Amino acid sequence: MKPPLTRRGFIHQTAAASASLAWLGSQQAPRVLAADTVQPALLGGAPVHPGGWPGWPIWRQSWEPAVLDVLRSGSWFRGAGEHVAEFELAYAKLLGAKRCLATASGTTALLVALQVMDVDAGDEVIVSPYTFIATYNAILLKKALPVFADTDPATLNLDPATIPSRITDRTRAIMPVHIYGMPCDMDPINAIAREHRLAVIEDACQAWLAEYKGRKCGTLGDLGCFSFQNSKHLPSGEGGAVTGNRDDLLDRCQAFHNCGRAFGNFKGDRAYFTRGSNYRMQQFQAVILLQQLEKLVRETAWRGENADHLQAQLATIPGIKTVRLPENSRSVWHLYAFRYDAREFNGLSRDRFMQALSAEGIPCTGGYHEQYFDGLLDEAIQSRGFQRLFSPQRLKAYRDSLHELKGNREVCATTVAVTQNLLLAERREVEHVVEAVRKIQAHSAALARA
Ligand SMILES: Cc1ncc(COP(=O)(O)O)c(C=O)c1O
Repeated sequence: MKPPLTRRGFIHQTAAASASLAWLGSQQAPRVLAADTVQPALLGGAPVHPGGWPGWPIWRQSWEPAVLDVLRSGSWFRGAGEHVAEFELAYAKLLGAKRCLATASGTTALLVALQVMDVDAGDEVIVSPYTFIATYNAILLKKALPVFADTDPATLNLDPATIPSRITDRTRAIMPVHIYGMPCDMDPINAIAREHRLAVIEDACQAWLAEYKGRKCGTLGDLGCFSFQNSKHLPSGEGGAVTGNRDDLLDRCQAFHNCGRAFGNFKGDRAYFTRGSNYRMQQFQAVILLQQLEKLVRETAWRGENADHLQAQLATIPGIKTVRLPENSRSVWHLYAFRYDAREFNGLSRDRFMQALSAEGIPCTGGYHEQYFDGLLDEAIQSRGFQRLFSPQRLKAYRDSLHELKGNREVCATTVAVTQNLLLAERREVEHVVEAVRKIQAHSAALARA
């Protein structure tokens, strides 16, 4: 069986498909008869969207001198230059956060946050199952158990109502993930955390500038974590950040990510070193990020307008369920996702629907699958460390509880998503997404039979 396509793999393929579609658009489209446009592309008609989509990442020639300056300075690591610190100030300001610590990646940002919020071996962290695997991995690397609350099919995010029953005397933190850039409903999550004295670490790795009730994601819990990996809206190849409003926590983050060297008011046990690692961002990453902050703001607004349009149009199509956002919040749409109901498409399976949509020139993905059944968690809980840290009863109950994630199963089986770069196209092109879905619905019986 072919392994499921990862989000990053999908983005890579989308860029490649865009290039080939662009080529098709210029080379082959004139030979297609006009009448063919009414036939689904999968059955031999012309695609609704014959051209390409904006590529990603995008860079400008005007950035080159700044990057070259770093190269020629020889000051490539954060200790020797000013760009990383400059980026930290600028990103914190953009988010309205008191502090920001730049890191080597989003994964290392999560590891820093887990360490500083005192998640230790044998602890449990309540987390969304519907996320990139790095979220699971960060918790597992701390030798803590990622305990999944369920996904709300209406929001694709953590359902706060399913959190309390997962709390045990080992639980130390809740880690909501603002998936695809859509804010989680943070008020009830924070209220549960307060009641049970738990830390809240936001995985905002896909949610740069997303807003919940007037505040930015990544500033709503104790600490927020971001990724600047290549596919992200603010990319630097690799990169990440931890954000927050408490100096004591951010001092600890600084110390831990820099081999445990004392920082600010955090002096550690022995005045100079505490336990730590090297998760530092490089100057090259920072200087590339600094070029893009205004661009991020502009593109976020542009994506938002196009996504609002899709939300309104797709909601009128029977069998397409658009995602519900919390009140007074703003998604930044790392993927634009909706849920698909095959019953309104003459039983056309989701896979076949996605093939048909891709053939119409709209590359799409089914998003995350039920990754907790892939073997990664079994391998972890069968390892010597986990067997020593947790009782056999706890590990059995944990393994059994994975079958209770009914909301998540539904989301994994019914979601269809397009990547953020499509939202950067002109409105008339974005409109092709709606036209293609309508066209597939009109021909769904024939497509289901073929
Ligand atoms: C939700 C989520 N969490 C964590 C990460 C990890 O970030 P990185 O790839 O920068 O380590 C990512 C990156 O894709 C992510 O999407």
